[in-house]
Amino acid sequence: MAILVTGGAGYIGSHTVLYLKEQGEEVIVLDNFTKGHKAALLETPYYEGNLHDEALLDKVFTENTIDAVIHFAASSLVGESVTDPLSYYENNVMGTFHLVKKMVAHDVRRIVFSSTAATYGEPESTPIKEDDPTIPTNPYGETKLAIENMLKWSDQAYGLKSVCLRYFNAAGADPEGRIGEDHDPETHLIPIVLQVALEQREFLKIFGDDYNTEDGTCIRDYIHVMDLAQAHYLAVKKLRETEESSIYNLGNGQGFSVREVLETCRQVTGRIIEAKVAPRRMGDPAILIASSKKAKQELGWTPQYAALETMVQHAWNWHVNHENGFNE
Ligand code: UFG
Repeated sequence: MAILVTGGAGYIGSHTVLYLKEQGEEVIVLDNFTKGHKAALLETPYYEGNLHDEALLDKVFTENTIDAVIHFAASSLVGESVTDPLSYYENNVMGTFHLVKKMVAHDVRRIVFSSTAATYGEPESTPIKEDDPTIPTNPYGETKLAIENMLKWSDQAYGLKSVCLRYFNAAGADPEGRIGEDHDPETHLIPIVLQVALEQREFLKIFGDDYNTEDGTCIRDYIHVMDLAQAHYLAVKKLRETEESSIYNLGNGQGFSVREVLETCRQVTGRIIEAKVAPRRMGDPAILIASSKKAKQELGWTPQYAALETMVQHAWNWHVNHENGFNE
């Protein structure tokens, strides 16, 4: 029995693939490599192509004995989703539609879905719980919520069981330094700060210091990418054991402001990292902190790398040794 990982060459996907292999699972990847990196797969077998290619999906499901799918493949930039929403509906919603259709046709009825805190929009209270209102403030979150609903109705109609994992801010890298985070363009806070540390950028732009938080900068809940990987594995195990659909937040339950992240990066790297306050970035909520109680209780999830210093240290170890990311 193999697990099919769509988008397995991306940042969270590749760390999950590595983790699954370490647990003795057989893994097959499907990725179109528009964002992902072949080098991040570390010899994992893969198919190259799009979710829209139904003939390819037939081939993948026919040539392998797949009992569960972990579905990462998606566009995931909030800003881009606002300027080009249709591409998000096409890639995320339509892509998942083809995948789910073919899963049902081939009688594969377990899926772990890579969802996001962006499904909640601007939260009414913190920490955010799974049954809080979901009112996305951008097309990215909207498409992920549409997929969660697609999965809910597909459970009712076809018995497709799903676990939707709503991640907060993924950070860090493989503790052993084999793979790391490499986006083009890079938009995420920690890798951008580390690029400044490596003098690949002049300074960090702090997007707004007039939010209603202690130091005025936005607060986020950072979670180590290997802890996310562990949760995906536990979600597959739960589906195999209970055949029940569910939704879980994945975060640390602790928030750090942009300035606190910057300070931690300065300490870990020992470098002077310049920063300048810039205007707010559109659509950024002031505070996003998860309650992950449900995942801990029901999945038995036990994050191993909860300290921000550890996440930054692991990210830094990789960046300092791979100044050009996977392109070297
Ligand atoms: N930030 C800066 N300067 C930068 C980059 C980011 O100040 O150059 C700030 C942002 O304004 C935000 C914080 O750092 O306050 C974190 O920003 P990221 O872009 O790293 O992450 P986001 O919180 O915007 O988004 C992440 C994921 C999304 C997901 C969202 C859900 O990247 O896919 O969490 O909470 F939708």
